[in-house]
Order: sequence, then C-alpha cells, then structure tokens
Amino acid sequence: APSIDELAKSLQSLGVSEVPKQPGTYPELNPVDIYRSHITELLASKTDIDPKIIYPALQWTQTLDKGDLVLAVPALRVKGKKPDVLAKELVEKFPESPLVEPPTTSGIYLQFFFKPLPLATLLLPSILHATSSYGFNPYLGLRDPFDPSSGRKRMIVEFSSPNIAKPFHAGHLRSTIIGGFLSSLFQAAGWDVIRMNYLGDWGKQYGVLAVGFEKFGSEEELQKNPIGHLYDVYVKISAISREEEEQVKAKKAEVAAKKEKGEDAAELEKEIQKIQEEGVDEQARKYFKRMVDGDPEALGVWKRFRNLSIEKYKQTYARLNIFYDEYSGESQVQDKSMDEAARIMEEKGVSEVSEGAVVVDLTKYSKKLGKALVKKKDGTSLYLTRDIGAAAERFEKYHFDKMIYVVASQQDLHLAQLFKITEAMGRKDIAERCQHVNFGMVLGMSTRKGTAKFLDDILRDVGDYMHEVMRKNEDKYNQVEDPVKTADILGISAVMIQDMTGKRINNYNFDMDRMTSFEGDTGPYLQYAHARLTSIIRRASGSPDPSALIPDLLKADLSLLSERHAIELIRTLVQWPDVFLNTLKTLEPITVLTYLFKMTHALSSSYDHLQVVGSEEKVKNARLALYVCARQVLGNGMRLLGLTPLERM
Ligand code: ARG
Repeated sequence: APSIDELAKSLQSLGVSEVPKQPGTYPELNPVDIYRSHITELLASKTDIDPKIIYPALQWTQTLDKGDLVLAVPALRVKGKKPDVLAKELVEKFPESPLVEPPTTSGIYLQFFFKPLPLATLLLPSILHATSSYGFNPYLGLRDPFDPSSGRKRMIVEFSSPNIAKPFHAGHLRSTIIGGFLSSLFQAAGWDVIRMNYLGDWGKQYGVLAVGFEKFGSEEELQKNPIGHLYDVYVKISAISREEEEQVKAKKAEVAAKKEKGEDAAELEKEIQKIQEEGVDEQARKYFKRMVDGDPEALGVWKRFRNLSIEKYKQTYARLNIFYDEYSGESQVQDKSMDEAARIMEEKGVSEVSEGAVVVDLTKYSKKLGKALVKKKDGTSLYLTRDIGAAAERFEKYHFDKMIYVVASQQDLHLAQLFKITEAMGRKDIAERCQHVNFGMVLGMSTRKGTAKFLDDILRDVGDYMHEVMRKNEDKYNQVEDPVKTADILGISAVMIQDMTGKRINNYNFDMDRMTSFEGDTGPYLQYAHARLTSIIRRASGSPDPSALIPDLLKADLSLLSERHAIELIRTLVQWPDVFLNTLKTLEPITVLTYLFKMTHALSSSYDHLQVVGSEEKVKNARLALYVCARQVLGNGMRLLGLTPLERM
C-alpha cells in the first residue's frame, strides 16, 4: 500500500492539508475511509454532532446513481427536527470540499458524490502500489487492530471432510469451495488460519473395508488409484455383507416355519450360526475391535489406506488451490479426551444412562435439540462423541479464537447438539468460539459419465465439457497455448462460480450447460473478462507483465479519464475494500461475486468508449492505468474466491 506520507502528499496536491483520519480507520488501505473521515470532519465542523456518530452513519450505496456514500439523517440522532428538514439544512451548511461535490438530498438521505479527478488521483496510485493486496486489510485479524505487535488471532476452518472409501458427494464439494474461500477471506484479513480436513475415517466400516481388501484388493490398483479402488472394494464387500444378512433373515423365517410344523431345524440353525460367526459382518467387527485395541497390524493396514487416500486428495485439492495444514479425522480423536468428556458429562449431570446407553437430554435447553446419544450400549463412541472430544483437543492444541465448521445444513442439528453439549459441560469458552457455516444441497449432480462419485471425476468431466465448448471456436482455440490446462481451469471456475451464485443456504441445480456458458454471470465469463483485459494491456504495452508498467502508469495524466465510462469504473474500483469488509460480515461468496459481476459489466461496456490501442500516447497511458487497476481488482477478487485468473483463453 502507499505510505501515509505519499498519501499526505497527494492529498495536499488536491488541497487537503492533513490526511482525514477518524479513529479506527485505515486511509492508506481503503480510500473510502478518507472520504468518510473527510465528510465527517466537514459535517462536524459546521454542527455540534459528534464525529463518532457521523462516521458510522455514512453507508455505501447499492447503485452509483444514488451516490458514493449516503447518510440516513435519522442515524445522526438529532432531536427536535424532522429528518428531511434537517437533511436540507445540513446540505446548506456543508462547506465546499476539494474531494466531494456539494451533497444532495433524497428524502431523509444525504447523497455524496466523489469528485472524479481527485478520486482517480487518490485511488489509482493506491491500487498500483498495493497490487495483490489492494482491498485487503491485514490489521483486522490482530488482537488489537491498531497494534501490529499484539499478535494475530487464530482460526480453524474445518472443511471438505470426506469419508474414506465413500463417494465425495455434493456436500463435500460445497464444503470444499466455501471453506477454501472462507480460509482465504480471513487470511486476507490478517488472521492466522489453520485449514483442517476432518476425515471420516473411523468406525466399523473400516473393518469391513479391511476384510474386503483381503478378498478383492489389489496392491497395484491401490497404489494407482487409492480412492477409487477402496471405494470399489467397499461396494463389493458391502454387497456380500448385505447378501449374508438377507440369507440369515430368510433362513430364520424357514426355521420358524419348520418349527411351526414340528420339523427339525437344527441343520438350518447351524447354517445361520456359521454365517453369524464367520460372515463378513463378524469378521469386520473383530477387525475393527483389533483396530480399537491398537493392534499394530490391523492399524497398519488401515493407516496405509488412509495415507494413500490423503496423498490422492492432496493432488485434487491442489487443483482448487487448497492446501491443508492438518489432515485430522475421526480416527485421530483420542480415547482419553472422549473418556474425559464422558466423565465431565456424568459429573455435571449433563448425561444420563438410558437403557444401557448414555444420552444427553437437550430438550431442557430447546425442544428442537432433542436427545443425543453419546455412547452406545456396547460402549463404542459415535460421530457426535468424537466431535465432542475433537473440539476440546483442538482448543488444547491451537487455542483458537474462532473455529468454523463448514458442513451441510443437513447436519444443523448435529452441530447445534455439539455446541450445546460443549457449553453444558462447562466449556462455554470453547462453544462460543465455534460457528457452523452451513449450506444447501446440490440437486441433480450427475455428469455425463453417470453420477460422479469423486471430486476428480467431477472436475475432469466439467473440464472435458469445457474443452468441447472451446473447440467450437476454432480460431480462438488454435491461439490457446495449453488448451487442456485452460479447459481444466475453466471447468473448475464454472463449477465454483455456479456454487457461489446465490446465498449459501439455497439449494441449486447442477447444470452443466448453464455453468459452462460464456454468457451470463458464470465462471467462464469472469475468466473471459480477465483474459480480455490482460490481452488489451498486453497489446497496448507490448509487455506480458503489467507490473513492469507500473512506474510509467504512476505518471499518467489522470485528468484524461473524464468520460462517463471511465468515471463509473473508477467509482466501482474504489468500492472493493468495502466489499471485502462486508464479506467478512456476511461470510457469503455471493457478496464478492455480485461485486465482480457489477465491475466486469462496467468494464465490458467501457471498451468501446475507452480504446487503448490507437489512442494518443497520453490518453493511452491514462486508460492503460485504469485497465491495469481494473485487472488487479478483478484478479484479487477471483483469487479470493479460489480461482486461478487466466491470462489467455
Ligand atoms: N465426514 C462428515 C460427512 O461426510 C463431515 C464431517 C463434518 N465435520 C464435523 N466435525 N462433524 O458427513
């Protein structure tokens, strides 16, 4: 970011002698802060309204025709005057400013429009200096946001969390996309973010898997494609287990029928017993028992399955620019933390024994929370029990200030129970730091090759589709350097943007045609906007690297950016830091996305009016500065969402 001295200098050149800086603001990071402080100071100088009241009353607008900032007069809490009357009075009192036009009123609102040239003078150099950090604010995550030595707050974002040997379903896909985004969001706000993947990797089904591997496993397949192979093995062995279960049922019915007729059923009973003692289910139970008891051989097999799966997952996550700090999982929760939790729950009267099992009756807090089972009759732990233990362990290990669980809304009850039980156990300190970020379902997620089961398949399928779409435009296609890689990135962008279009909680339809279209608000459209900007800059400057242009662009004569389209674009670019702040409140990718589409629409309607190539040298340089800034903002937004902005396509 530009230093405060540089900022002071450019403000002085505009006729503002001191950097307007209300307490708790970041003028060097967010130019709109300068305007809020400036307007606050001017208004306070002519009235006796407290600046502390004025500043937060200045709000951003939905559309530019309403101004760059508005102030709802009732928020000023001035007694004894009708707001619309007061609005008119304030307009009259408002002194002449070098930065903002004289305010106008609209009912109870004061509308402020930034003066175009001073705005360009403050904003564009600020973006050119800040480059990839423009819009972000690394101070927000500090314990004291104005004291860099205060240390950063720490956050765990737990997301994706698929189950080994099971399909990676839409819920995991959404969790991955949203969780990756939230991690970047808080990191850009200066938090110390720990990305955690909490694998479903424990329970009797892993005994089933091991038994299945003995029968159907292939070492070669396992090495080649662990996730797919383990899934196949699991499907095969589960089928046998189901079949055995049915046999037992049928035989039992036969036994009953025989006994009714007074016939001898001993032979059949032996057969039933044989299945029950030697069948898959019993083998799996025994195997899992060995795992629970810590038998190194049994654990070794399972660990290999787990490690190979993780290696494979890592490659896929890398395609989405996601890198985890920790692969934890249900298996990693220590018995001693679960025992400790059980002890506390019992001691505090949180849990009770019911028909041999241990339950927590949460209806006393809220009917909706129901009764939660925390220990089965046979003493084994459950999904919920492991989460209770895990939360305490993570707090112990990381002392997080906040922990976000990115999990489908189908598990709303589960997480509400987890948080309430944690609180009831006397760990309010942990519970109040936890937050469930939920989301709706993806409907009809099937790809052309049948229902996709793994993240890799989904991405490959959409990438292939994108490749076909690209091929339809042969001329363009031939210019793309690495079409396969480009198609892959476009496909990923298509999937991600579709997922982020709409509030998280909404369900949506997985629609391959729609998401891969270059028209409308899609991933390919955003990528196209970025590639087009890059190409304009490349052609105008002859340089493949816009950062090399910055020294020249800083000298551009910005008064040449006087067209309506240029001004609108500049007014849109200055909003980006506020959009970022707002996103930290909404935790919704759509907050960023709506802005990026608004920006790219402004951009695409500007091209005809603001030609670069062929314009007079000075005009060209000014427009180039604007486009380099626009490209920076678009790129920063796309990377925040987790996309890889394309240079060419
Ligand atoms: N593995 C779980 C599933 O696939 C999701 C885990 C969510 N996280 C948690 N801490 N429970 O449903």
